[in-house]
Amino acid sequence: MNSIGGQPVMLNNRTSLNICVIGSTGGIGSAFVRALAARANVERVFAASRSGANFDHPKVIPLTLDLEKETLIQKSALETSQYGPLDAVLVTTGMLHENGISPEKSIRDLSGEKLERLYKINTIGPALVAKHFLPRLRRDGPVLMAAVSARVGSISDNELGGWYSYRASKAALNMILKTISIEFSRRHKQSIVVGLHPGTVDSDLSKPFQRNVAKKKLFTPEESVQYLLSVLDHLKPADSGYCFDWRGEIVPA
Ligand SMILES: NC(=O)c1ccc[n+]([C@@H]2O[C@H](COP(=O)([O-])OP(=O)(O)OC[C@H]3O[C@@H](n4cnc5c(N)ncnc54)[C@H](OP(=O)(O)O)[C@@H]3O)[C@@H](O)[C@H]2O)c1
Repeated sequence: MNSIGGQPVMLNNRTSLNICVIGSTGGIGSAFVRALAARANVERVFAASRSGANFDHPKVIPLTLDLEKETLIQKSALETSQYGPLDAVLVTTGMLHENGISPEKSIRDLSGEKLERLYKINTIGPALVAKHFLPRLRRDGPVLMAAVSARVGSISDNELGGWYSYRASKAALNMILKTISIEFSRRHKQSIVVGLHPGTVDSDLSKPFQRNVAKKKLFTPEESVQYLLSVLDHLKPADSGYCFDWRGEIVPA
């Protein structure tokens, strides 16, 4: 199996969906919140971010969540339960650079601090989200956890080198997702856990690295999210454990 296809089974053919988007202030995360809230079959979108930002939309409920604070992750997960079980959790957080940290061009640029920081945000945070949010998913029917990963987390696809911390943290995220998919499928036959590669998307994360990207290869967050929703709409339990790109093709491990 290299790609998905067939009739929509996951998000599109069911009603009254409760979906949580973690990282709702990001380029991709905020586009997910808006696109999901606009769907007639979605009843609520929980929008979780560090600032607890509000979307001023009747379907959107803000939550305050910092990936570096497990107590806040747990608290947010519990807050959703007063509205009933969740159908899907989408993790759209991530980090490539911040003040004092930029992707390594060479092993000389590597530092323990950089590696730790990117693992903390790109791997450990999403893993803790899974720990606290998976028990909040409904037990009767298809459920989904998707985390935005990146093609550069593929070991077999790495032909350019560089970006040690980002690549390694996303490869580790993919392993966490695969492992969750196995455990979760044992007790929930209709569960789907996947990684997503969104393409190159115009956001704060990609801004410093867009110079060599052809204009038609740089998606707006809205374009990327339309592609990714179409991928999510078609997922089946047999797709669990894989990372899919925006076209619905599996990104090799
Ligand atoms: N853009 C691309 O071309 C591209 C390509 C491949 C993969 N991706 C992946 O796509 C995902 C989304 O990226 P994006 O392009 O939308 O980037 P973005 O606009 O920079 O969004 C990143 C999000 O992560 C959140 N975040 C960072 N640290 C956090 C923390 N400690 N706790 C909670 N939230 C935290 C940010 O929240 P604040 O607003 O609070 O900072 C923001 O909402 C990332 O996983 C990225 O690796 C992006």
